Amino acid sequence: AGFLRWTWRITYLSAIAGLGWFTYGVYESRTPPEQQEPDPKKKTLVVLGTGWGSVSLLKKLDTENYNVIVISPRNYFLFTPLLPSCTVGTIEHRSIMEPIRHFLRHKKAAVKFYEAEATKIDYEKRVVYINDESEIKGAISTTEVPFDMLVVGVGAENATFGIPGVREHSSFLKEVADAQRIRKRIMDCCETAMFKDQSPEEVKRLLHMVVVGGGPTGVEFAGELQDYFENDLKKWIPEIAENFHVTLVEALPSVLPMFSKQLIDYTEQTFKEETIEIRTKTMVKNVTDKYIEAEYTGPDGKKVLEQIPYGLLVWATGNALRPVVKDLMTQIPAQKDSRRGLAVNEYLVVKGTDNVWAVGDCAIANYAPTAQVAAQEGAFLARLFNQMAKTEEIEQELQSLSERQEKAPSKEVRDAAFGEIKELQKRLRRVKQMGPFEYSHQGSLAYIGSEKAVADISWLTGNLATGGTLTYFFWRSAYLSMCFSTRNRVLVLVDWIKAKMFGRDVSRE
Ligand code: FAD
Ligand code: NAI
Repeated sequence: AGFLRWTWRITYLSAIAGLGWFTYGVYESRTPPEQQEPDPKKKTLVVLGTGWGSVSLLKKLDTENYNVIVISPRNYFLFTPLLPSCTVGTIEHRSIMEPIRHFLRHKKAAVKFYEAEATKIDYEKRVVYINDESEIKGAISTTEVPFDMLVVGVGAENATFGIPGVREHSSFLKEVADAQRIRKRIMDCCETAMFKDQSPEEVKRLLHMVVVGGGPTGVEFAGELQDYFENDLKKWIPEIAENFHVTLVEALPSVLPMFSKQLIDYTEQTFKEETIEIRTKTMVKNVTDKYIEAEYTGPDGKKVLEQIPYGLLVWATGNALRPVVKDLMTQIPAQKDSRRGLAVNEYLVVKGTDNVWAVGDCAIANYAPTAQVAAQEGAFLARLFNQMAKTEEIEQELQSLSERQEKAPSKEVRDAAFGEIKELQKRLRRVKQMGPFEYSHQGSLAYIGSEKAVADISWLTGNLATGGTLTYFFWRSAYLSMCFSTRNRVLVLVDWIKAKMFGRDVSRE
């Protein structure tokens, strides 16, 4: 009985402590402290973008060391791993957005934010030209921002490979607006298919959901969509059950090429059970408003051109360079052989420059374009910049000490200054000892539908490849813990509970 009483007391106290900690966290997040004014005498550090790379840099950067300016057309950070869940309403999009204003107000020294797109970086002049691309424009909507140091973290565009019709007729899946558009179109297709006197062929076309690209974006979306159909759509609109159909089209011989063979097979098998059709070795060549034209390579190597009608078309074929990055590359001779992004050295300095760094999908550092890489690169740069500021501070101190030592009237004062100089030089050597960027791969995770996920995880000394329902719970808890803020975590959790209890909302906004 004594043991039980103690266990109960400990549990009770831990619950109170946990609640206190949570309440303080909420209070702290809602009451930002006074901030130091930015110091115009300090170097101006301009950061482009508010995605994984840039925000991870800003999170760890000691902003009092620089005059920091952030420029991005998006005044929020987006937790992309859960974006596919927003296309079907498992999660509401605002739950995975974190306002950048909120986050920047918590930094020690104030940071300026301009909601604008960088349209051109003039490397020689050290100036970024910016443009307000939002709906409401003031008397000034184009201007320039000078920089001493620049971090390019603008991410990438959607690749279309110049295939005709892609931009006009398909939906991408990169931004919040894309997910909202897809969600609306799914319901539009279903309701239009139910329109009075619709012909059977038209019903079939409207309810054919085609996803192009068998990378993780395409696979996760296909899985979410099939879940939506099985758990909700079929229940509320039983008439669509016979014709609703998801097809995943992939040019290569298999989906998820970055995962191990065992998990590729597992995914393909799961899709088969979920009745998602996978069309591998099928390369889309043309897109019209009602069908795609795809070239299928048969087992005999013969190529067959086929028309596939669709109601919804989601295009997820990877990344392409943004124009602002392409333009910067043309200004720097050392970038002339780089094709896929800004070539950077091991300290993430853009090759051919000494004051421009690049992080994330727009930088080419021999890693996959993932959030994991971008976040680690951003954190590395923050450490580097903090250290550079410290180095400068010590060097200035050293210089003034040396001057004082030279002018010192007595030997005692000179000796004392000498001792201090030695100590500072030692500190300077320590501070300057920062190794290059090294990426530590934690593993790959993807949701594949019907409450199953696949994971290739770096585990102690080896790799662990696993798939199934347990992995799905791991996927959920991993992403929940990785959410940007406590607020995001609570919102995502509530959305999951809501979807489980009441189902997803099938109204078309
Ligand atoms: P982004 O996060 O894309 O941010 C770019 C920023 O730059 C944005 O704020 C944008 O508004 C801004 N910007 C754009 N143009 C300009 C301009 N001209 N001037 C100024 N700012 C500009 N990776 C994983 O590791 N795990 C996952 O589970 C995962 N899931 C994903 C799911 C989806 C649906 C998608 C699309 C991607 C996913 N990724 C995942 C990949 C990951 O999101 C990217 O690799 C990551 O976002 C790259 O970070 P970034 O900072 O380079 O770019
Ligand atoms: P991707 O580049 O990984 O895959 C795109 C796929 O489209 C390729 O397999 C390619 O063969 C195929 N393709 C290209 N053109 C085609 C055509 N014309 N017809 C048919 N198929 C065609 O792109 P994705 O999935 O958008 O991912 C981009 C990056 O984001 C990757 O680095 C990925 O690892 C990362 N990401 C990671 C996730 C995760 O870890 N869960 C989730 C989503 C993205």
